[in-house]
Amino acid sequence: MQEGDEDVVCLRAKERSNTESREARAELRGAHREFMPGGTGYYEAKAHFEECVEQQEAGKSEFRKAMQVNKWKGNRREIGEDFFETPRSAILPIRKYIPDGVKTILEPTHGKGAISDLLQEWGYTVIKQDKYPKTDDTTQADFLTDDIPDCDMIVFNPPFSLKSEFLARACESGKPFLFICPLTVMETRTRFQLSQKHKLSVLNLPNRTNFMSGVKKVWFHSVWIMKHPKYRNKILFADVPDLPETVAQLKVKLKELGLPVTGKKADLIARLEKALE
Ligand SMILES: C[S@@+](CC[C@H](N)C(=O)[O-])C[C@H]1O[C@@H](n2cnc3c(N)ncnc32)[C@H](O)[C@@H]1O
Repeated sequence: MQEGDEDVVCLRAKERSNTESREARAELRGAHREFMPGGTGYYEAKAHFEECVEQQEAGKSEFRKAMQVNKWKGNRREIGEDFFETPRSAILPIRKYIPDGVKTILEPTHGKGAISDLLQEWGYTVIKQDKYPKTDDTTQADFLTDDIPDCDMIVFNPPFSLKSEFLARACESGKPFLFICPLTVMETRTRFQLSQKHKLSVLNLPNRTNFMSGVKKVWFHSVWIMKHPKYRNKILFADVPDLPETVAQLKVKLKELGLPVTGKKADLIARLEKALE
């Protein structure tokens, strides 16, 4: 068999069709079909096929080079796109878990200030940091690599794609901390071992938390992971207003308060929680 024989062309096309993208596969299959004995335009199709292969090889090596330069380029981790704001109702329950004597709190993932604003309202001094500052009063700092400033405690909402790294860093700081994360933060052996070693506690929230990123919403059942001098190895349940259970009951309550009754159950709960704050 020689390069250029139908068999070789068939084989290469077959090989490629197993590995390339859908469009590339379709293109190669199209070219390949043309090579079948008795097919029309054999030489044109063959030339076309070889050009395709060449372009793909060149494209692939460019792609590989780009990936080597920066494997996270354009990735959520690299561009810090993991910006989902914490709703007020999910932050309110932590108030009673801020240890006595705390005055200055570091918020290392300040974002637009959902957590910091509330902490300030409660009278704490907040050091506002973020790797990708989004407000003028934020200091640019990477929580994972920069020194941790002098503070009594750390409170934050990490990018969810870096939950293990943020958990490890918070533990390493030796300070009390609280951070909110989807329930999956309880998974994996590494996170289990860190939680066990540092005697962390979990503050469970009553319903899925609606994190917002512009108009994008994500709902996750979330918990606060806590390092607290008094609460160690505990599962705690947030003190929250007693809400009706069914959609019909929620609507009645909203109507009583003169509020809209449209939306999914989670929207109704969020609206009611806000009204009852
Ligand atoms: C889920 S958002 C939380 C924003 C805000 N704290 C809130 O609760 O609404 C995560 C924030 O962490 C920031 N961030 C990402 N990587 C970081 C890092 N290594 N160090 C500090 N901040 C980081 C992002 O820019 C983003 O603003």
